[in-house]
Amino acid sequence: MINKIIAVGSGKGGVGKSTVSVNLSIVLAKYFKLKIGLLDADIYGPSIPNLLGIKDKPSTENKKIIPYDKYSIKAISIGNMIPDGSAVIWRGAMVSSAIRQLYNDVVWGDLDYLIIDLPPGTGDIQLSLSQYLNISGAVIVSTPQEISLIDVRKAISMFDKVKIPILGLIQNMSYLKINGNEEYIFGKDGVKNEAVSLKKPFLGDIPLISEIASSSDKGAPSVLNGKSQATDFYKSIAKNLLDNKDKMIDKKVKIEN
Ligand SMILES: Nc1ncnc2c1ncn2[C@@H]1O[C@H](COP(=O)(O)OP(=O)(O)OP(=O)(O)O)[C@@H](O)[C@H]1O
Ligand SMILES: [Mg+2]
Repeated sequence: MINKIIAVGSGKGGVGKSTVSVNLSIVLAKYFKLKIGLLDADIYGPSIPNLLGIKDKPSTENKKIIPYDKYSIKAISIGNMIPDGSAVIWRGAMVSSAIRQLYNDVVWGDLDYLIIDLPPGTGDIQLSLSQYLNISGAVIVSTPQEISLIDVRKAISMFDKVKIPILGLIQNMSYLKINGNEEYIFGKDGVKNEAVSLKKPFLGDIPLISEIASSSDKGAPSVLNGKSQATDFYKSIAKNLLDNKDKMIDKKVKIEN
């Protein structure tokens, strides 16, 4: 049984959605002792296997797919659900068949939360995924820059359309510390102010930290290091997210394994 499914969306690409999905999942598992699954639903360019340092294909058992088991979480990419070498032309039918497989053919076991890294954008594919994935709530990741906030508004209106509650907004790349001073490269508090004006919870900041980027490239997310400053930021966001869990709608997914 999957208790709740949480989507991580942004609207705009490259704002750190996948990085947040991975680090948040590991923090929820490692420090909050929750059973976490992570689904990479980015059909345009799955990045979760790289972020987790996984190169192999998932194994199968009795025609069921065994999700990767790494750093205390289970993970799979939607790219694993489609036949090799087939041109990926994602239409509604393809999305719903991949999703059916995802729930019925992947051996998830019991999960408290399945975190879904959605593809960037607010087009048909994102709308179909949001509609069919039984999502209980969405987390929005953005940089404080106006150009990414424009897409945040679009993403929120997309989730509204399919009646998925917004659990909160995360302000990524909020500042860079140079010689002890906080430099607001993308502007100050754009996401925080947006959360206030939209009356949505603000879940917290993650500054630009070089270790977040370098550890992603190594396939060993920064929160694996309990002493890294990134871990504290992600822990605080995880706590704020769980504090908002009463906003999640009930859509348990029963799996017929
Ligand atoms: N807080 C941060 N500090 C430093 N680097 C970061 C931070 N967050 C993300 N990055 C880096 O920014 C880049 C983009 O991040 P990521 O791939 O997670 O974005 P995304 O929103 O998932 O992109 P896409 O839209 O392509 O899926 C990566 O190189 C990542 O390592
Ligand atoms: Mg991504």
